[in-house]
Amino acid sequence: MAVIALKCPSIEVVVVDISTTRISAWNNDQLPIYEPGLDDVVKQCRGRNLFFSSVVEKHIFEADIIFVSVNTPTKTRGLGADKVADLTYWESAARTIADVAKSDKIMVKKSIVPVKCAEAIEKILKHNSKGINFEILSNPEFLAEGTTSNDLFNPDRVLLGGRETPEGQKAVQVLKDVYVHWVPVDRIITTNLWSAELSKLAANAFLAQRISSVNSMSALCEATSADVTEVAYAVGRDSRIGPRFLNASVGFGGSCFQKDILNLVYICECNGLPEVAHYWKQVIKANDYQKSMFVNRFVSSMFNTVLGKKIAVLGFAFKKDTGDTRETPTIDVCEGLLGDKAAIYDHQVTEDQIQRDLAMNKFDWDHPIHLQPMSPTAVKKQVTVTWDAYEATKGAHGVCILTEWDEFKVLDYKRIYDNMEKPTFVFDGRNIVDAEKLRKIGFIVYSIGKPLDAWLKDMPAVA
Ligand code: UGA
Repeated sequence: MAVIALKCPSIEVVVVDISTTRISAWNNDQLPIYEPGLDDVVKQCRGRNLFFSSVVEKHIFEADIIFVSVNTPTKTRGLGADKVADLTYWESAARTIADVAKSDKIMVKKSIVPVKCAEAIEKILKHNSKGINFEILSNPEFLAEGTTSNDLFNPDRVLLGGRETPEGQKAVQVLKDVYVHWVPVDRIITTNLWSAELSKLAANAFLAQRISSVNSMSALCEATSADVTEVAYAVGRDSRIGPRFLNASVGFGGSCFQKDILNLVYICECNGLPEVAHYWKQVIKANDYQKSMFVNRFVSSMFNTVLGKKIAVLGFAFKKDTGDTRETPTIDVCEGLLGDKAAIYDHQVTEDQIQRDLAMNKFDWDHPIHLQPMSPTAVKKQVTVTWDAYEATKGAHGVCILTEWDEFKVLDYKRIYDNMEKPTFVFDGRNIVDAEKLRKIGFIVYSIGKPLDAWLKDMPAVA
């Protein structure tokens, strides 16, 4: 919304939320999320044509176009639990809009919701519409965290889905006119509603599949002494495959990939396509396998126990340049690793967030309870959160690098080695350190999908 405000000075953009705390955070100097470039964009237009407000109904009443970006948590109970998106918040937003609106509106779905959601929302609106016309469009977002500014300023494509009726097509054109302020017209794709919704899930599923594919190769590389970076490079040079998104890692995280694939799986199952559902489920299973292999390597190299040992965890966010911890692989790795002592360091993630994430059940992060203060009894793990990588590693037996922050590439590893217990291990879950340099210092180094040190070969891990 901030980018739309920046690029379209003639359009007034009001971001509304029922949470006054969240809105006041957006009106503050210190924005509530860390995202390179965002501060600058918000500060250029806030108060000019970008406003943050908790007076929801007034702004719904006044708006011509309403972008709906409410939360769609994964259901944790009932039909479709652990798979399907819960549409409670969508339904309540639709009901509020139907109650308040006195003029025709275009409603744009930004939330990632399963195919056919538009139909359900349409039903609510049509039955409460008092003669008002609501046109529903789907405009899925393809930005990635950490690179939001570039993704929004120079998108590969903008996708607009609408009904194939004259009114639907007119609404698509209205939204297209917003994007043409800065997006070349040939990058704006228009489709029917179903195609737009499914394309979003499909794009994320394909991206996640690439990571699971390269990660599956990493296990084979370790077993055969091939090097996954070399394999990925050679494979990616085929222009039909391409070089991006082929970095082997401890596993993918984030709020989108797993959730979108689970939605896809559920839709396949509901449509009598169990084999297709099974196919996509494997992408998640391979990701879980990757995380457990990492843990098993670590534990087996330490004589099959980490009890009584201190582990330093460098990086908690699900990737660099974000403070977001949703579905971060670090949570699963910590679950598997934490004996009785661990020190975690990530300069973008607070101690409260780390403790909260380690205490939460699967998918709890996706529910509003996540935003409430945590009860002290909810803390399950004994961890220290430090604000310095040297402090985290002092006296530790092993270091796990779990987020690819640039700062971890340039740490003084000699200093770290001197202050650690011996033998001294580095487990690089992101392949960012110079393993040879570290071995010369004295570390035993594990890098994903690379030929193994003799120590690790002698202590094989099984998932
Ligand atoms: C992802 C998609 O990339 C966006 O296009 C999409 O709009 C977004 O989800 C969404 O649905 O909102 P995001 O989750 O922000 O974006 O982050 P990614 O850059 O896709 O990374 C996801 C995970 O995969 C991270 O944990 C990352 O470290 C990991 N990854 C990525 C790898 O392990 N290897 C790679 O080669 C690339």
